[in-house]
Amino acid sequence: MRVLVTGAAGFIGSNFVLRARATRPNWSVTALDAMTYAANRQSLAPVLSDLGGDGSVALVEGSVADAPLVDQLVADHDVVVHFAAESHNDNSLDSPWPFVESNVVGTFTLLEAIRRHGKRLHHISTDEVYGDLKLDDHERFTETTPVNPSSPYSATKAGADLLVRAWIRSFGIRATVSNCSNNYGPRQHVEKFIPRQITNILGGVRPKVYGSGLNVRDWIHVDDHNDAVIAILEQGRLGETYLIGADGEHNNLEIVAMLLQLTGRPGDWFEHVGDRPGHDLRYAIDATKLRLETDWRPHYGDIRAGLAATVEWYRDNEDWWASAKLETERTYSRLGR
Ligand code: NAD
Ligand code: DAU
Repeated sequence: MRVLVTGAAGFIGSNFVLRARATRPNWSVTALDAMTYAANRQSLAPVLSDLGGDGSVALVEGSVADAPLVDQLVADHDVVVHFAAESHNDNSLDSPWPFVESNVVGTFTLLEAIRRHGKRLHHISTDEVYGDLKLDDHERFTETTPVNPSSPYSATKAGADLLVRAWIRSFGIRATVSNCSNNYGPRQHVEKFIPRQITNILGGVRPKVYGSGLNVRDWIHVDDHNDAVIAILEQGRLGETYLIGADGEHNNLEIVAMLLQLTGRPGDWFEHVGDRPGHDLRYAIDATKLRLETDWRPHYGDIRAGLAATVEWYRDNEDWWASAKLETERTYSRLGR
């Protein structure tokens, strides 16, 4: 099977490529990435020949919004796994246009190529399209929860999801969609919460918690997310949406407390900073449908163990994140966060 992975030099996409090489050696994988600030070629080093890897994957530099390029690549592959997106909420509040271009126009461009060539698509999305839940109830998102996005990022992801659903219904394309909760693990950009705090601590800087720190996210290890995507590709029903989550709800103060404990710092060694405008309170996924229809089960039940391994990865790979860290913290200080 020839698989085109978009956004393959980003966090989840690069982990997907490495996971697919390890668990599906008969797949032939091509990586497509616009190589924005969020991409890192080093993340694909094990499979890129010019970086000393085994040369099993070709990396094409280009945008999913580039129609002629996308048309040719889609024609040459059997399946497209579509991770490419602008992904960071804080950036979307500062500068929304790249989110519309990559997430909406990019997905539209891909859908048209999929329709022309009759290929299979799996579209990667987020639980943020459903908006947020109250802190004090037990409700969780399901596949029938209405979309209700809060930020420019989540609005563009909801727009992309709706385009995919419309292309399934009106044009009969062979596609599936998944909406996953917050991922953590190796190779995540240092703008995101967990890597930002790990690299702060490693650099002797206190973690920075937005607002009260009571906001809840439903954490899942990136390998568990990617294994679920592979399960949907192989066992999912065409036309369906699947929610992916691993029952990993924690508020931000709890995550910071675990990171401080893992790095031997006192529990109060963090600071509160200004809140994110429109900050979603709580996300929580009910993944019953995925569990009933596929044999997928998460392997990282213990977030503390997953976080410990992630801390070690950042400790061992400072070359991978050092320059992005400088740039990211310059942006955060301009935003007052
Ligand atoms: P990321 O920012 O680390 O990676 C995104 C990649 O997409 C980058 O390499 C970037 O260069 C590339 N890209 C951006 N615009 C592009 C374009 N126009 N053409 C081609 N490539 C482009 O993001 P991530 O955290 O790896 O997220 C990947 C996908 O998973 C996104 O669709 C995101 O919405 C979704 N998702 C993320 C999470 C999470 O917790 N990070 C959770 C659920 C879903
Ligand atoms: O839910 C899935 C989504 O998770 C994905 O769709 C997004 O691509 C991904 O970025 C993530 O969105 P969040 O906004 O939840 O993630 P982020 O890492 O930016 O923030 C997680 C929580 O931590 C959130 O409540 C904001 C808070 N935060 C974040 C940063 C960067 C802080 O308290 N301090 C920080 O420095």
